[in-house]
Amino acid sequence: EERGTARVTCTAPVNIAVIKYWGKRDTDLILPINSSLSVTLHQDQLRTTTTAAACRDFTEDRLWLNGEEVDAGQPRLQACLREVRRLARKRRGDDAAAPLSLSYKVHVASENNFPTAAGLASSAAGYACLVSALARLYGVEGELSEVARRGSGSACRSMLGGFVQWHRGERPDGRDSVAQQLAPETHWPELSVLVLVVSGEKKAVGSTAGMQTSVDTSPLLKYRAEVVVPERMTRMARCIQDRDFEAFGQLTMQDSNQFHATCLDTFPPIFYLNDISQRIIALAHRFNAHHGRTKVAYTFDAGPNAVIFMLEDTVDEFVEVVRRSFPPNSNGDQFLRGRPVGTAVLP
Ligand code: PMV
Repeated sequence: EERGTARVTCTAPVNIAVIKYWGKRDTDLILPINSSLSVTLHQDQLRTTTTAAACRDFTEDRLWLNGEEVDAGQPRLQACLREVRRLARKRRGDDAAAPLSLSYKVHVASENNFPTAAGLASSAAGYACLVSALARLYGVEGELSEVARRGSGSACRSMLGGFVQWHRGERPDGRDSVAQQLAPETHWPELSVLVLVVSGEKKAVGSTAGMQTSVDTSPLLKYRAEVVVPERMTRMARCIQDRDFEAFGQLTMQDSNQFHATCLDTFPPIFYLNDISQRIIALAHRFNAHHGRTKVAYTFDAGPNAVIFMLEDTVDEFVEVVRRSFPPNSNGDQFLRGRPVGTAVLP
């Protein structure tokens, strides 16, 4: 590393919320109307890789996403850059011997190994990765979920592994709206995840615009945030603590369904689930009814792709049932699966 230039590469994982975040009370600081809880997935199958470089000779900040240059002036990227530089300044004081000047511009290249903006939490992994890379570049350590949150709310949860809570916080400045690990992933090693990629298409309504319309128009969302979620956060934490899959699975499905109900309650309504998503929901309930207990649990974010939670001993049987219900098309042999993340491409 020569003086006047530096370069780092990081990876970051996707996280899947089992108690969903939907709605901001502050759109600039990205402060949510309710707390949320998620599971961070392994990085072996769904991840973002980001390289960040700073150099004396760069004349402007530049950003490439999956090989294509995009506008680096966007406010959220700039907010992350500003915050990391502020922390770096605080840390090093006015140390003239600091290896890297904070005034240097950065070049950032970020790649997902899965469909971007298709409701697979690409922005969560993306901003978590960006913040980690910038922090390493400038030698910043410590609490960074607050910075990642400024990129994309759900990104703060990807800064930690395992089971993660994002506290809504009470302060207007957002200092207490941070992610916290509830349990490491080793706490529940049998918990497995299967991702069913229904569609790799970009979603019609992005989460930023969608949740704003919901906050403005949905009375159900207000009730959910104030009354339903606080009780569910406590209950979900207990399910995880107790490794009670049946209770965990039921609450996960109910919370996904209520999130999509608030989308329908939004005016004009937002539809993220399609007919294949609905067939997956029906299939999961049939599978559970057949076994007389909750063995699989689905959850859907702002898109039609399904994430299915189950215990390891159920994966083979459920994958077989999915294969039978959705015969492979030309993509069908890409039925990648693994523990705890598998990916299946459906017609
Ligand atoms: O962080 P955003 O703006 O991409 O919003 C994510 C919202 C959901 O994925 C639908 C729910 C969640 O908690 O991740």
